[in-house]
Amino acid sequence: MKSNLFITFEGPEGAGKTTVIQKIAERLAEINIDVLATREPGGIEIAEKIRTIILNPAHTAMDERTEALLYAAARSQHYFEKVQPALDAGKLVICDRFIDSSLAYQGYARGIGIDEVLSINEFAIGKKLPDMTILFDIAPEVGLARIYATGNREVNRLDVESLPFHQKVHEGYLLLVERYPERIRIVNADQDIDSVVEDVWSLLLDAIQ
Ligand code: TMP
Repeated sequence: MKSNLFITFEGPEGAGKTTVIQKIAERLAEINIDVLATREPGGIEIAEKIRTIILNPAHTAMDERTEALLYAAARSQHYFEKVQPALDAGKLVICDRFIDSSLAYQGYARGIGIDEVLSINEFAIGKKLPDMTILFDIAPEVGLARIYATGNREVNRLDVESLPFHQKVHEGYLLLVERYPERIRIVNADQDIDSVVEDVWSLLLDAIQ
């Protein structure tokens, strides 16, 4: 069994990633896989502080380039302080969002350019990409409706962007699937959570076996 793999989870708001990741981490631990579950932006103190700056709904003046650079800064600190050491120690690392979020949100939806945002990230972390990325596919309006319906998480500065912005994020992700067909695997997130967990689980088992 391969263990030191870096697997990331991506998708629009309200896709259910966070809940599924928790359930998947529990299952991996049950079969004695040494797993680290973490998230971006955040995962360690410095990056969590950057997260509060980026996502504060009061920061409406934030320039899109500032936003892209802050995500890349949080990513660099998180990667070198937490992800890389865990991989070196033989752990399986599962991460809620990573570089593809920057490419879809800042690169495509904000209009900075996917290649431009990729180059900022290459400065931040080098050419590192996940071993596998699981994209939770769901129509943006369905995901946003879930956030507002459940009210079980804080609504952040990006959630309150317009529906066309979130539709662009979704389009951006689909462009990334074309660009990285080997790495990015799609899961239908518009089904009940247990079915999503099963779909993710079978992709993970294929990757680690
Ligand atoms: P979440 O952790 O609740 O998914 O919130 C993080 C928000 O930040 C979400 O709206 C996606 C956004 N984001 C980016 O725009 N670029 C990034 O690089 C990352 C990691 C997140």
